[in-house]
Amino acid sequence: TLTPEAALVDSLIASIPDFPEHGVTFRDLTPVFADGPALKALAEALTAPFAGRFDYLGGLEARGFLIAGAASLVSGAGVLSVRKAGKLPRAVLSQEYALEYSTAALEVHVDQLPPGSRVLIVDDVLATGGTALAAVNLIERAGWQVAGFAVALELDGLGGRAKLEARGIETFSLLKY
Ligand code: PRP
Repeated sequence: TLTPEAALVDSLIASIPDFPEHGVTFRDLTPVFADGPALKALAEALTAPFAGRFDYLGGLEARGFLIAGAASLVSGAGVLSVRKAGKLPRAVLSQEYALEYSTAALEVHVDQLPPGSRVLIVDDVLATGGTALAAVNLIERAGWQVAGFAVALELDGLGGRAKLEARGIETFSLLKY
């Protein structure tokens, strides 16, 4: 049984068969982002388990940015922009991660936060965990602490949670498919 917040978010997630390729079901959270009360409920649900234990939200480009912004307003914490490679203008740390047929990289400004800052990473979907783990590595290499990883939707059976927990990262998902 779902909490009322989880049920509201769940009711708005759209499942699109065969996108971006045949055999894959794409979970689209844009209807959640388009619904003000649902976005607020999502932001509250993702930050509540970590209340008092983080100083910043770590938003993962691009969909994680939407959640991080909303979570910032409900928690009072600012947002660390964790960007795709080549977007940040000052000195960066870069962390590569594997995609299905290639690699990508996430970046942060090296001096964005004070040393030891506690960062709660937020995103829309946890699948293989490659993106989340890259963000964890980046934040730790920058001299900050990962307070946890909070995600709207966890896709079971793809190994994401196991990867994070093997690194000692507390992981919270509002929904599991
Ligand atoms: C999606 C999603 C997560 C990631 C999850 O982002 O928003 O960040 O994939 O997959 P993983 O657990 O297998 O790493 P995507 O890379 O498509 O970027 P976008 O938000 O910019 O579209």
